[in-house]
Amino acid sequence: MSKCPLAVTGVDPAVLKYLEDGFKKLQSSSTCKSKLKKFLTKEVFDNLKNLKTKTFGSTLKDVIQSGIENLDSGVGVYAPDAEAYTVFADLFDPIIQDYHGGFKKTDKHPKCTMGDPNKFGDVDPQGKYVVSTRIRCGRSVQQFPFNPNMTQEHYKQLEDLVSSTLKGLSGELKGTYYPLTGMTKDVQQKLIDDHFLFKEGDRFLQAANACRYWPTGRGIFHNDNKTFLVWIGEEDHMRIISMQKGGNIKEVYARLVKGVEEIAKRMKFSHDDRLGFLTFCPTNLGTTIRASVHIKLPLLAKGGHDALQKVADKFQLQVRGSAGEHSEAVGGMYDISNRERMGLTEFDAVSKMFKGITELIRMEQELEKK
Ligand code: ADP
Ligand code: ARG
Repeated sequence: MSKCPLAVTGVDPAVLKYLEDGFKKLQSSSTCKSKLKKFLTKEVFDNLKNLKTKTFGSTLKDVIQSGIENLDSGVGVYAPDAEAYTVFADLFDPIIQDYHGGFKKTDKHPKCTMGDPNKFGDVDPQGKYVVSTRIRCGRSVQQFPFNPNMTQEHYKQLEDLVSSTLKGLSGELKGTYYPLTGMTKDVQQKLIDDHFLFKEGDRFLQAANACRYWPTGRGIFHNDNKTFLVWIGEEDHMRIISMQKGGNIKEVYARLVKGVEEIAKRMKFSHDDRLGFLTFCPTNLGTTIRASVHIKLPLLAKGGHDALQKVADKFQLQVRGSAGEHSEAVGGMYDISNRERMGLTEFDAVSKMFKGITELIRMEQELEKK
């Protein structure tokens, strides 16, 4: 029996059957490389299969079904509600430790520290390698549950609250909210192709019940230049984004810091003393920062994605394709970002990207001399 005060027992037989079958499916897959498969040992499975979270009654099924339906998941788990991180800690903790560079269950995430953006500069002043820079963070709004427990009404309320809050922004942050409901397919596709808007139909999110009532409550806010953007209602309640062409990390980060601080004056975010800012996916906890460049490094990337990832591993960087996660590189353009978001400050997360990209460019230049 779990000693966790947030856990209750009594799981539906149909859910238990799904779990037993799912566990077998994971175990018998020879191709699955997910962290879910790695850390859901028989012992952990047996400890957790009968538990539910106290407030929403979320089960282990809600945590792992995305990874069971999608055996090609890298991670394979989501937190259906904030309590799930505690109730299902036997599974989340080792996944968090593995993903976030060794953040142990006894570790505490440092307090939010944005630091001074002026400490950064342009990572590619000649504009030879870096096409654009983007830094985003995720935020959950305190009074709403995470996706799988959101009702249609919740999505509408979230959209109303966030979009009306954003109306109060001024200067460079001033913008307009464009709901997905009523947006033409052409406009939506152009925003996706230009890297501003989230994609539709993510099978990992769908299997986690994160896309219910779509497109209700989903949309994008942006300023005229599309350098400051906020996604509403996708994977997290909010994704706050700063981006622009070129490699000026200082400008991009300064704008993000300003935007996040202004929004934080107007609303309360879900935060945990140990885990930092709370997000739907454990890979985004802590700082929630993903600082990336779109970059062309033809010599380092000669052997393709895996070869480039091997080099990027030296600097704890993550390589994605041109259209983001689970996409291919088009025209030799990769998305390279910091991987860890926990156990370090916001400033240090951006620093890791800045220093790592500086090194990768230096390595590319060495290869050019040969
Ligand atoms: P997230 O960063 O929010 O985790 P994705 O990996 O799906 O999600 O990326 C979302 C979008 O942001 C994609 O269109 C992707 O191409 C775009 N993107 C990521 N990094 C950059 C960048 N440095 N410059 C321009 N667009 C970027
Ligand atoms: N669940 C997906 C997987 O395991 C995505 C994990 C990380 N990305 C994210 N957008 N949360 O591959």
